[in-house]
Amino acid sequence: MSEAKRLAGEKAIEFVEDGMIVGVGTGSTVAYFIDALAPLRHRIEGAVSSSEQSTARLKQHGIPVLDLNATGPLALYVDGADECDPGKHLIKGGGAALTREKIIAEASERFVCIVDAAKQVPVLGRFPLPIEVIPMARSLVARAVLEQTGGQPVWREGVSTDNGNWVLDIHGLEITDPVALEARLNQIPGVVAVGLFARRPADVVIVGGDPIQVL
Ligand code: A5P
Repeated sequence: MSEAKRLAGEKAIEFVEDGMIVGVGTGSTVAYFIDALAPLRHRIEGAVSSSEQSTARLKQHGIPVLDLNATGPLALYVDGADECDPGKHLIKGGGAALTREKIIAEASERFVCIVDAAKQVPVLGRFPLPIEVIPMARSLVARAVLEQTGGQPVWREGVSTDNGNWVLDIHGLEITDPVALEARLNQIPGVVAVGLFARRPADVVIVGGDPIQVL
């Protein structure tokens, strides 16, 4: 499994060009990408990071971590996912970094998603859908999600995001229209970000394995 993640992470290096500022996601697959990026650190301008975890790894490798407010739009974002459908719509947020990931994906011209084959599904929803919420809105959002979708919200108790918020994981969804569901859930007051990356899906999906697939 981690061999497939390593292959995907290393393959994504082919999308990095000299002088780029690279958007960097979060997770175990991205860790392989960061490690592979290290030898190129003198050829890129730096990275914009989606989490404290990735920031620490980038810095360990001597890769400058830049502020998105200072960089402006990015040419490339590389990140993993928890699930990926044939339309390159994603579920993300298993590592609770979904909000910053979504911001960087939106700011980037090209989003390259790196996964192993286990993440590929015909319909999203087997992986519980993470939603980052303002803490005081946790039960309000949970009630609204249950009412609107029938999915079962479970509070990821004890987890606080890098933004100081909480996460609900929605179980039992079958997401046949991810763009519509993302838009609907975004309307609930107290929702900070929904872990559906559908309105802005991935542009390229790299599936690690033998052979590696670039979709
Ligand atoms: C972080 O919140 C997630 O969106 C990750 O991108 C996702 O969980 C992928 O993680 P792995 O690469 O560790 O499987």
